[in-house]
Amino acid sequence: MIQHQSPNKLRIAVLVSGSGTNLQVLLDRSAAGDLAAEIVAVVSDRPEAYGRVRAERAGVPTHVVDYRAYLQREVEKPLELKLPVNLEELARRQKILKSSDPEKLLQRLAKLVLAEDELIGILDSYRPDYVCLAGFMRLLSPYFLGHYNRGGQWRVVNIHPALLPAFPGAHGYEDTFCYGCKWGGITIHFADEGEDTGPIVAQAVYPIWPDDDMEKVRQRGLSLEYEMYAQCINWLAAGQVELCSSPNLRVDTRITDPDYQIIMRSWIDKALA
Ligand code: GAR
Repeated sequence: MIQHQSPNKLRIAVLVSGSGTNLQVLLDRSAAGDLAAEIVAVVSDRPEAYGRVRAERAGVPTHVVDYRAYLQREVEKPLELKLPVNLEELARRQKILKSSDPEKLLQRLAKLVLAEDELIGILDSYRPDYVCLAGFMRLLSPYFLGHYNRGGQWRVVNIHPALLPAFPGAHGYEDTFCYGCKWGGITIHFADEGEDTGPIVAQAVYPIWPDDDMEKVRQRGLSLEYEMYAQCINWLAAGQVELCSSPNLRVDTRITDPDYQIIMRSWIDKALA
């Protein structure tokens, strides 16, 4: 782990759905002074997410936005709901929900917006510089993303357990392993309105050996995740993640840390060891 050099500590809020081992590493590194960020709040979408326990133990404020409760609600006339956003326009912009029934799609989107509205209210009360998704298994609508990705800034960061654009979605490790890949990958990216399609900040790969099973692959990948997430947050804090445009006009990023290649090599060496 390369120590951060920036005096500027970021305020980050972390969203989790499950066990929260990535969160644990960030909490530990923050406590050890190895992370250029203060974790100001942890929010989960499920009351039972173990990540909350980890945060509470570390003295970090936690909240639950119970997505299940929102999504189970009956919403008869979504267009008549008082929402903080124009639902029809959102339905045109969004790329994540699929339904052949436009009314059903509006209903689902309306419920999602209500959950996100509660989430935004909580997060904003902590004034985070970045919202970091660490195993947060919910779709984010353009309402949420537009709130944080404003003025040319990308403020929602995600970690995905595959080498994007291969294997987006909820089963990165399983999809990589079952496809028969000989290398797996991890991607840290900014979240945009597509499914795991936002600008890539960092990627690294790990080998998949002939005798590996799914669990070995996941553990090898997770070890890499832990190194990468903390490092990317330190790059963000140090202002070393530059936005630029790629030849196909996508927003791209460039890490300006002079030690970038050394760090990349250290990740791969560790994964190969
Ligand atoms: C991690 O492997 C993370 O990359 C993945 O969920 C796991 C969470 O583990 N995220 C996604 O699949 C997002 N699409 P953790 O709760 O132990 O940190």
